[in-house]
Amino acid sequence: MKLIIAIIRPEKLVDVKKELNEASINLMTVINSIGSGRQMGYPETYRGVKHEIRLLKKIELQIAVNDDYVEPTIKAITRGAKTGNIGDGKIFVVPIEECIRIRTGERGSRAIG
Ligand SMILES: Nc1ncnc2c1ncn2[C@@H]1O[C@H](COP(=O)(O)OP(=O)(O)OP(=O)(O)O)[C@@H](O)[C@H]1O
Ligand SMILES: [Mg+2]
Repeated sequence: MKLIIAIIRPEKLVDVKKELNEASINLMTVINSIGSGRQMGYPETYRGVKHEIRLLKKIELQIAVNDDYVEPTIKAITRGAKTGNIGDGKIFVVPIEECIRIRTGERGSRAIG
C-alpha cells in the first residue's frame, strides 16, 4: 500500500480528477495548500536581488492505493496536471503501514479501496 501525495496547480484539478476517474481511481482527499518549489514562488529569477520566498496556492491530492495502482495513478495525475512549464507540481509516493475502515474494522488492502 502506498500513499500518493500530489501537488498540482489549482486550475488543473478538474482535468486531474477526470483522468483519475477514467482510470477507476475514485477515492481521494483534496486539500487546499500553499507552497513553494525551487523558483521560490517567482516565475523567473532576478540576478543579484534577494526576494522573500512566496507561497503560491496549490492543491494537494492524497490517494491511498494498493501497489498495482501506483503507476496508473501517477500516469493519470501526470496526464491531467502537465503543462510543461515550471510549477506543474510534484508527486510523492510514501509507504503505508496500515489502513483501517472504521465502519467494518477491515484492514490493509481490503480496507483501502
Ligand atoms: N521538495 C518539496 N517538498 C515539499 N513540497 C514541494 C517540494 N517541491 C515542490 N513542492 C510543492 O509542489 C509545489 C509545486 O512545485 P514545483 O512544480 O514548482 O516544483 P519544482 O521543483 O520547482 O519544479 P519546476 O522546476 O518544474 O517548477 C510547490 O509549490 C510546493 O507546494
Ligand atoms: Mg517550481
